[in-house]
Amino acid sequence: MFKISLMDHLDLEDAYKIELETNPSPWSKDNFFSSFEVGHKSLVCKCNDVIIGFLIFSLIKKESHLLNIAVQKKWQKKGAGKILMDVFIKQSKAMGAKKAFLEVRSKNRIAINFYNKFNFLKDAVRTNYYTGSNTDDAILMSLDL
Ligand SMILES: CC(C)(COP(=O)(O)OP(=O)(O)OC[C@H]1O[C@@H](n2cnc3c(N)ncnc32)[C@H](O)[C@@H]1OP(=O)(O)O)[C@@H](O)C(=O)NCCC(=O)NCCS
Repeated sequence: MFKISLMDHLDLEDAYKIELETNPSPWSKDNFFSSFEVGHKSLVCKCNDVIIGFLIFSLIKKESHLLNIAVQKKWQKKGAGKILMDVFIKQSKAMGAKKAFLEVRSKNRIAINFYNKFNFLKDAVRTNYYTGSNTDDAILMSLDL
């Protein structure tokens, strides 16, 4: 039902709509679009050729950093996020990464549950890391690949 592919330039607008719908402090459009240009790796999940989710990561030497993941609200809890994560983990390993890292808002229980499911472990907390109208601590998590 779901198909994962590398994000194409033409996918950016639809992926950014999902970012706006799901992230309480969305990336700016400039940041989102330039992330694609600066060489971050981006995946999309499609259902019948329609983008329903995306994942952005960067690889620095043997470290893979999960920068962003989101699934359109109406498609959540149907396994799309899991498939994106499975491909992210597989590709990171294939590209030589030994560890994956991410940070998540402490109030984002759903995402923390989601990451636990893939055996990510909590390494540290950065107090008040997220500023602005949605202040929150950041939980830093990692996974041995
Ligand atoms: C986090 C997110 C990407 C998960 O995507 P998803 O497609 O809904 O996740 P899946 O259906 O593949 O679920 C995989 C597992 O995650 C956990 N999970 C997912 N949604 C959950 C929920 N609402 N409550 C509790 N656990 C949940 C479950 O363990 C689930 O496994 P199960 O179905 O066997 O119980 C999605 O909720 C999302 O886009 N959230 C908004 C954006 C966001 O917070 N991104 C993370 C920023 S750090």
